[in-house]
Amino acid sequence: MNCSFCKQESIYFRNYEGHHYCEIHFVKNIEKRVKKTISTNKLIEKGDRIAVAHSGGKDSSNVLYLLNKIFSDNPNIELFAITIDEGIKGYRDKSVKKSESFCKKLGVKQHVFSFKKEFGFTIDQLSKKLKSGYCGSCGILKRYLLNKKARELGATKLATGHTLDDECQSIIMNVLRGDLLRFVRIGPMPLLAMHQKFVPRIKPLVLIPENESELFALVNNIPFHPKGCPYAVDNVLRGEVEEFLNNLEKCSPGIRYSLYESAHKIVTFVRKKFKTGKISTCEKCGEPSSRSVCKVCELIEKLSS
Ligand code: FES
Ligand code: ZN
Ligand code: ZN
Repeated sequence: MNCSFCKQESIYFRNYEGHHYCEIHFVKNIEKRVKKTISTNKLIEKGDRIAVAHSGGKDSSNVLYLLNKIFSDNPNIELFAITIDEGIKGYRDKSVKKSESFCKKLGVKQHVFSFKKEFGFTIDQLSKKLKSGYCGSCGILKRYLLNKKARELGATKLATGHTLDDECQSIIMNVLRGDLLRFVRIGPMPLLAMHQKFVPRIKPLVLIPENESELFALVNNIPFHPKGCPYAVDNVLRGEVEEFLNNLEKCSPGIRYSLYESAHKIVTFVRKKFKTGKISTCEKCGEPSSRSVCKVCELIEKLSS
């Protein structure tokens, strides 16, 4: 089959759109979409210092690659990477190595921080202690550390590799949990509660489906660690929601986009309610927290008792 835009051989059929893409047109299309997400939502502006949360997986590698491609010649935008080593033997050690060599190849400065050094324990150790719920705790610890380190390194934005699939899974999960505060965080620049210590997060890949993100990395020879986290099994709900959405997409191509659009419309209304929401400060560590002691300090205390 030929590309719908030239005579080259097609490498990808986008079934929700009905077009075939050759390598060149596929890459061009993804780049155009990402650029559009950045410009229409004003994700990156003159003077920004962007920290890219880079795990060494396909999505965060694509974000780093694309932002570097778009902005490396722009003297008004600075880019660096932050990598978090949660301490997962056989998985994160390998992806951190991939991440280090990719940052070197691109000439992007990288800062690596480990749970072990910052919190005093690894996720391998935490999983043995907690038996369940460690994947959720890992997410809390990671968000905390990324925000803290990005801020300390002078970042004005924190870019993450969230794709359309991640976003749709979060929409469903937050509806199921009735978590409105998290529900309003969807979109390319999620609204965080007001606190001067929060670094605004941006999601340049928010309109790119995960399978297209993977294909983009493959055709561009972007090195990435292919395996998923071995502890993902702990997050049963996300796994179920992912499967549910993949099945829906199969019988109704494009449903992820309509779910995202619908949620976005709801969020626009709901946000007005939370717009002025202020968040307080953890009395132990001084980081933003909705409670007097943040979940991270609570977890550290629980583990040391
Ligand atoms: Fe933290 Fe998987 S990356 S539990
Ligand atoms: Zn083509
Ligand atoms: Zn705290």
